[in-house]
Amino acid sequence: METDKSKQYIYIVQASKEDTKCKIGKTNDLEQRLSTYNNTTGKSKENISQYLFTCEVSDMTQVEKDIKTQFSKLREQKSREIYFYNNDLLADYVNFIKSHKLFVKEIFVKEDNNPIIKIVPKTKPSLKERGISQKDVLERAKRVEYDEFYTRYEDVEKEISMYDKEIWKNKTVFCNCDDAVDEKNGKINEKRTSAFALFFINNFKNLGLKKLICTHYANKYDIFLAGKNGLVYVITYEMEKDGKIKVEKQSPENYDGSFDHPLSLKILNEEADIVCTNPPFSRMQDYWKIVIKSGKNFLIIANITNVKNQPYMSYIKTNQVWAGYNRVDWFQNPSRELTEAAGHWYTNFPIENRPKYELLKIIPLKNIPDKFKKYDDSKILMVDNCYIPSNVKKPFAVSVRVILNGILEKGYQLVENKEYVPYINGKRCFGRVLIKKT
Ligand SMILES: C[S@@+](CC[C@H](N)C(=O)[O-])C[C@H]1O[C@@H](n2cnc3c(N)ncnc32)[C@H](O)[C@@H]1O
Repeated sequence: METDKSKQYIYIVQASKEDTKCKIGKTNDLEQRLSTYNNTTGKSKENISQYLFTCEVSDMTQVEKDIKTQFSKLREQKSREIYFYNNDLLADYVNFIKSHKLFVKEIFVKEDNNPIIKIVPKTKPSLKERGISQKDVLERAKRVEYDEFYTRYEDVEKEISMYDKEIWKNKTVFCNCDDAVDEKNGKINEKRTSAFALFFINNFKNLGLKKLICTHYANKYDIFLAGKNGLVYVITYEMEKDGKIKVEKQSPENYDGSFDHPLSLKILNEEADIVCTNPPFSRMQDYWKIVIKSGKNFLIIANITNVKNQPYMSYIKTNQVWAGYNRVDWFQNPSRELTEAAGHWYTNFPIENRPKYELLKIIPLKNIPDKFKKYDDSKILMVDNCYIPSNVKKPFAVSVRVILNGILEKGYQLVENKEYVPYINGKRCFGRVLIKKT
């Protein structure tokens, strides 16, 4: 092992009993650092730490700092250097380090499927040689950030409890965006099962479901550790037999579990009655298009800003989609930390007496306090704080929250299929939505 103490190193290390995590750190002495890990790791001889990757850099503090920023969502805890691990993530960490401008040379890298560390030639292949660009590296990490938000059980429970139970009766529910199920001998491992799958399994009998079909997406950020192949789980409840939930796990050939894979589309179109999941942000447009076109009922999570984004607004304007009951502010990242994001439920199920109507203050314009009404440079009225003028015929601008609180069900309609961006004294204000009385 290279131990020139005048040099600076970045390493990725893993303890043999912690196969879903790794540590990424800096040191001037690789040998010493590894023996420190092995003197402390789990205080057990069986829990051996090994390097997965080591390299020399010209400024280890800076590189370590950049790794923390780049992979912030993949850290187990902000205060510790523990990162979520699987083989593909390791490749991402290594790619990032090797493409860093302060990278000097690679020293060790773990061979695939072989825990033994191998010494590789001390060369520095370019990004081009590895077929990726710096932009690819950054975009990949960004995609993780936006797609890998996992739904909390309580958010699924809270929303579903708002609807009439009858809507589920004798229905086949399809959860088609990485809704893995981990079941052994009739026991569900909750940590390795999506909140959607778990909720419907727990409430199968109560809701009177006919069938639940879930899929696992063959995704490198495999939070449920369901493996590298796309999977279909068919869940039924055999009341007349043993009264137990039956999970049949299928691994169809060449199936990646993508919602737009022909097999997923077949299930959607031929078997599903209701679609329910939290689709990936990066594929949201395609997802809405496919699910809406299928004509099935759905209850899904998406960003609050969908109500002011052109691709989604036409569905809202034509009454094919509307807001569900609740906002969803908290998700889990792949390291199972709570992460804030502006989510909301969207559906095509009837909404009964939306509790958020109470937030809407529909009153004559003259009664709206001055600080909550103003005109922009184009003389368009802008209202805030959920005030709505009851006696204005012309279009006026409101925030997305007003739409999500149900104003379109109160005798108002969208004016156009795009965001309205007001300017006041030439200064851009935050984007809104133009509505008018019907
Ligand atoms: C927002 S997460 C939600 C995961 C899970 N459904 C939940 O609610 O916790 C979106 C998931 O969709 C996965 N995904 C990405 N592209 C997909 C695709 N084409 N088809 C199905 N799932 C996909 C992502 O990897 C990620 O696991």
